[in-house]
Amino acid sequence: MSINIAIDGPAGAGKSTIAKKLAEELSYVYIDTGAMYRAMALYFLEHQVDAENEEKISRECRNVEITISYENGEQQVILNGVNVNGKIRSEEIGHMASVTSVYSAVRTKLVELQQEIAEKTDVIMDGRDIGTCVLPNAQVKIYLTASVETRAKRRFDELMAKGVSCELKEIEKDIEERDYRDMHREISPLKQANDAVLVDSSNMDIDGVVAEIKRICKEKAGI
Ligand code: DC
Repeated sequence: MSINIAIDGPAGAGKSTIAKKLAEELSYVYIDTGAMYRAMALYFLEHQVDAENEEKISRECRNVEITISYENGEQQVILNGVNVNGKIRSEEIGHMASVTSVYSAVRTKLVELQQEIAEKTDVIMDGRDIGTCVLPNAQVKIYLTASVETRAKRRFDELMAKGVSCELKEIEKDIEERDYRDMHREISPLKQANDAVLVDSSNMDIDGVVAEIKRICKEKAGI
């Protein structure tokens, strides 16, 4: 049986950075499920599918094939045969992913893919519904969060470092909206699983969070 570590939490809590580091240290495969929702969102945007039209979105899902592969240890998302990793990190795609991930056709398709991978492989999977829905039997479940202010400041610094001009207040507003949508949707909303351990990274650096999660992995599963 494979060992599964689930990391859930809101946008900007540092899930992917932490999960990637941890996966490297433990020699597990890191699965970024948000990237899959982003690839679906890219398809809908490129095909001008109206995000409000659930019927059309559900129909279009049948034309979308998403798979993942690895290049130098980095997850690559393949959308209908094309590697789209370079195209899915924008704010526009993040927004569209949050909006279209509310639909059951979108979720069913991606959850199946995620479960298939985790069944055969030791994984650290991050997302919004991993501990509650995708991997309810994961040996370790972490709910990683941080204050809105901290998450917005991290995102602001990231964008500034890339030379993208932005307003801190705007980013805070986007994060609050995204949190609300992800936490209040009908299907698999973002919430802490009953058996997940809460880690608040507001006042911790990356190495501190990795060390804390490693401690939890040891305690819960002897990893
Ligand atoms: O983690 P991220 O910012 O790349 O995710 C983008 C959006 O995808 C997020 O706002 C909600 C959706 N998502 C989801 O519904 N379930 C997941 N397991 C991962 C992401």
